[in-house]
Amino acid sequence: MKVSFRVNGESREIESDPATPLLFFLRNTLGLKGAKLGCGAEQCGACAVIADGEPVLTCVRAVSEFSGSDIVTIEGLATNGNMNAIQKAFITENAAQCGYCTPGIVVATSALLRRNKTPNTKEICDALEGHLCRCGSHSRVLKAIGSLVREGVADGA
Ligand code: FES
Repeated sequence: MKVSFRVNGESREIESDPATPLLFFLRNTLGLKGAKLGCGAEQCGACAVIADGEPVLTCVRAVSEFSGSDIVTIEGLATNGNMNAIQKAFITENAAQCGYCTPGIVVATSALLRRNKTPNTKEICDALEGHLCRCGSHSRVLKAIGSLVREGVADGA
């Protein structure tokens, strides 16, 4: 079937097996390698992207479920190759070690700040609850997001 949606602001209409998980479609068909395959069972958050403003996991849900959606991947947060404020804050605070989980955490942060510009620590933790980091970067992630909240950054723009 033909799948139609917007990805990082660009309309796409591409032939695909409708059962293909969105993650594999993004990575293998569109070449967007930012979202990662971790558990493959909706348990780790590494595959997260934003669909219609909400963070979604993409390792299980079929590409056909996203027909008509507006999808933003980690690649779509930068503008003309310039990182957005969230990406910069994560670098400033060294909020990653191996970095495998970081794209999922950054897109979840972007979705959070878009709907709540001033989340408290509990709200941040709730929003990132499904994102595992085996390197233990959690305290630095909280520090990075805290700096964004203090600066009043909405969605990293
Ligand atoms: Fe999708 Fe882990 S790879 S949640």
